[in-house]
Amino acid sequence: MSTRPETLPAPPVPTTQPLPWGRRYLAVSPDHFRIDYAINPFMHLDDQPDPVRTREQWAAMVAAIEAAGASVEVLGQLAEAPDMVYAMNLGLALEREDGSPHVVLSHMRHAERRMETPAAERWWADRGATTQRTGRDGVGAHLEAGDAFAWRGDLVVGFGPRTEELALKHLATELGTTVRGFRIVHPGMYHMDLGFCPLDDTRAMVCPAAYDEASAAALLDLVPEPLVLTEDEAMTFCANSVVVGRTVVMPACPDRVRAQLEEWGFEVVVVDVSELLKGGGAVRCLTNPLDVRLGRDLRPVPGGGVVLPS
Ligand code: ARG
Repeated sequence: MSTRPETLPAPPVPTTQPLPWGRRYLAVSPDHFRIDYAINPFMHLDDQPDPVRTREQWAAMVAAIEAAGASVEVLGQLAEAPDMVYAMNLGLALEREDGSPHVVLSHMRHAERRMETPAAERWWADRGATTQRTGRDGVGAHLEAGDAFAWRGDLVVGFGPRTEELALKHLATELGTTVRGFRIVHPGMYHMDLGFCPLDDTRAMVCPAAYDEASAAALLDLVPEPLVLTEDEAMTFCANSVVVGRTVVMPACPDRVRAQLEEWGFEVVVVDVSELLKGGGAVRCLTNPLDVRLGRDLRPVPGGGVVLPS
């Protein structure tokens, strides 16, 4: 006999779909992580990471992502490329509709990071991927993949501090999809993945302070249910997180942000990546999703198109 009173509310029916990608990642083992130069406001030559703690924190982060149900492939770090641990910036990894890998390699804004991409290109080529650089001569415009997200069928791209506006046009034509551009103006949120984090097909963390007025308004318009971050909240790097299904692996999570994520049914897993924060990046910067699928996650649009806030 059931003792459940008739008045108990039915369990909530989820009305949103998890992200279709984010189950397979590339990460770079922090074998040579150092602060040799300062190309963002968080890097200080007098604040060097401890190599042992770095390795422990990185391994715990990888374990948390795996425990959430994703797999992680590992590429070794070049000794002369101290920022290569931020695997997200190596390139925009895609899968064609038949599952074969294709990568749009980054063209880094700063010369200090440009030796990273040839190493990544070899790794991808060894795994059967075709690779390309954007623009006619392949060095047409700066593109850093940390600025790009496949979301709701389009490629959402931040530009300004790192990626150049021209790269958006190349991406749209070469991939045959819609690219939605947002102008970043905050020096501390120099990549899109510091002010924006898609959570499922309807929700995303958004920090309007990262963008100029028109871009902030357009981004809030794009997101049906935004979790709006204050500048202080975003500066904890909470948007620099990895979402695996309903688990969010985060470097930090302010209480208010946690309450909203949990109310939406997400499980929050905070990992300590304090040593890796010294280079100005956290969980999302340290990983690169390999399973973004053309056709499924990026809607085909003949000739492509760029949408910019007016
Ligand atoms: N030191 C690196 C740089 O300034 C950090 C990269 C962070 N990556 C990211 N996807 N936001 O380029």
